[in-house]
Amino acid sequence: MATKVTVVGAGAVGATCANVLAARGIASEVVLVDIKEGLSEGKMLDMFQAAATCGYKTKLTGVTATDAEGYKATANSDVIVITSGIPRKPGMTREELIGINANIVKSVVANASKWSPKAIYVIISNPMDTMTYLTLKSTGLKKNRVIGMGGALDSSRFRCYLSKATGVGIQDIDGMVIGGHGDTTMLPLLSKASIKGVPATQFLSKKKLEEVAAATMVGGATLTKLLGTSAWYAPGAAGASVVDAIINDTKAVVPCSVYLEGEYGQEDICIGVPVVLGKKGVEKIVKIDLTKEEQEKFAASADATRKVNNALYEIGAL
Ligand code: LAC
Repeated sequence: MATKVTVVGAGAVGATCANVLAARGIASEVVLVDIKEGLSEGKMLDMFQAAATCGYKTKLTGVTATDAEGYKATANSDVIVITSGIPRKPGMTREELIGINANIVKSVVANASKWSPKAIYVIISNPMDTMTYLTLKSTGLKKNRVIGMGGALDSSRFRCYLSKATGVGIQDIDGMVIGGHGDTTMLPLLSKASIKGVPATQFLSKKKLEEVAAATMVGGATLTKLLGTSAWYAPGAAGASVVDAIINDTKAVVPCSVYLEGEYGQEDICIGVPVVLGKKGVEKIVKIDLTKEEQEKFAASADATRKVNNALYEIGAL
């Protein structure tokens, strides 16, 4: 069955996401959109020039779009990935981007939704949980159709640092990060991390595990410091993995930012919790038992995220 994905924003994250979608054959068609003349056309042509070498079969289209009319080529997308906005610079938090990114994300979603009435949205733009909330509230879409990808990325970073600390191959490591996608709000679940089903606590001391959690939480900030701008390989790939689960109806359990209505003791907020992803988007919110300490940290993370959401009203985005 033909499947179509639009990625909005042809910066490093959006282009990486498009590239992973093509390289892994996740969708049969990918459209990359940007406001900067020539940028998405150029990146998609570059990718097509790699197709013979890499064996991509995906149809690749790049378009410049500054208004709704420009989104015509995105019509009838199954999934729309939003990466638009500015990335953070060293020393900045993701939350500081809200003033610039909120209105960009809002207008991009409004333009894209005109052409793809059935699409499911995957939000990457920062502050990710708040941009997910903004997408949901500004469009009135059903909650299963709006998904923030932060937990997929943070969990991938968690597995990376668990692999570094244990010396065990990443494919045998499982780990999940829930809560907000912020340096101080994310919550790597040490109690649930495992290696081939064996609790990670049997491989690493409490102190080592806490170091792994701390490294995970600043995983993005570490890269921002090294690179001078925000990361792209892991964020782009994590976005593509969420798209894969939706478009190919894999029913993968992935921590994603979704709208809660009482689950985990929270309501009227988008924040990271484990969900089952499939062709309807969020098909189920998975309830897992948290330790008392994890419950407290999750509640504090939600409080902090809610404060950022409130800024949407203060700046008039909602
Ligand atoms: C990061 C950005 C994409 O964590 O939020 O790298």
